[in-house]
Amino acid sequence: MEMRRLGSGGPLVSAIGLGCERMSAGEPAPGGVATIRAAIDAGVTLLDTADFYGAGHNEELIRRALRDGDRDRVVISDKFGAQRDPAGRFIGLDARPAHAKSALAYSLHRLGTDHVDIYRPARLDPAVPIEETVGAIAELVQAGWVRHIGLSEVGAETLRRAHAVHPIVDLQIEYSIFSRGPERAILDTCRELGVSVTAYGVLGHGMLTGAYAGGGEVGHLPRFHGANLTANLALVERLRAVAEARGVTVARLAIAWVLRRSEVVALVGTSRPERIADAVAAAGIVLTDAELAAIDEAVPDGAVAGGRYATPLLALLDSER
Ligand SMILES: NC(=O)c1ccc[n+]([C@@H]2O[C@H](COP(=O)([O-])OP(=O)(O)OC[C@H]3O[C@@H](n4cnc5c(N)ncnc54)[C@H](OP(=O)(O)O)[C@@H]3O)[C@@H](O)[C@H]2O)c1
Repeated sequence: MEMRRLGSGGPLVSAIGLGCERMSAGEPAPGGVATIRAAIDAGVTLLDTADFYGAGHNEELIRRALRDGDRDRVVISDKFGAQRDPAGRFIGLDARPAHAKSALAYSLHRLGTDHVDIYRPARLDPAVPIEETVGAIAELVQAGWVRHIGLSEVGAETLRRAHAVHPIVDLQIEYSIFSRGPERAILDTCRELGVSVTAYGVLGHGMLTGAYAGGGEVGHLPRFHGANLTANLALVERLRAVAEARGVTVARLAIAWVLRRSEVVALVGTSRPERIADAVAAAGIVLTDAELAAIDEAVPDGAVAGGRYATPLLALLDSER
């Protein structure tokens, strides 16, 4: 598997990382540990999690999946700051310095490790200046509990302010054939600052695979609603033609599309070990200029129907301001 460095001084990670959220969303999927194992065995070294994925369940899965010697080979990327009630409902943000430190203490315990490799607030907390949040994580770096600092869904200005306090190795942000917003300004700022991009939603949360069969944990996403879903699935059929001409699945095409930019690492979310091979194969695909043009023609920027989140959640995204 191709390896890419996060930031100028960050860790070297596999070009494809495993997004572990689905293993703990709603009813925990049974294949979590097996999927993490399959990914590690296939050469994936980046595992993305959060303390609020299944209220700690996801971090515990990672601990159970890691065998002797694995810890030094994998990069654990962890998030904090999104708060959920016992029913799993989102109830707010907390990225205050004391919470960053306390949340990490619990995460380390659940992960069964003495450090996380990358630690990040899941969202900008509008009540807390980014300098304070990043400053607190920098103290955790100083103390050895955290190796590197990342951010998630922040805009160019916040990224600059944060990077001035402590080097940021990666910005996690939704980026896919369906979600090209970062191309407007954020990717340029990342390149200028030497910050890598860890793209999520690369598979359009399951739609950019050509295999979406309805249902799942995506009911809250506008792109999966009624007429939007019909319109978007028609776009996927246009992509299928491009994928078939190359002899690959739509999922591989979608992953290869984000990896065409050398500063991007692709998170792929799955809870099924049998899908790891499909994802890993995408790391070797270099799309031609003609194929990239065919993708643009099949799904022009802005063609997708529906926003990437419902309005109240979209309002939390500093990256969309
Ligand atoms: N920073 C943030 O704000 C943020 C937000 C959301 C997510 N994330 C991270 O990004 C990761 C990925 O996000 P995501 O899971 O929402 O989106 P995604 O990777 O675009 O899509 C995942 C969906 O695609 C399906 N899938 C995966 N491989 C497939 C294949 N080869 N063929 C057909 N279907 C396939 C999965 O189903 P199965 O499980 O059934 O395989 C799942 O439903 C998350 O796990 C999380 O770590 C970060």
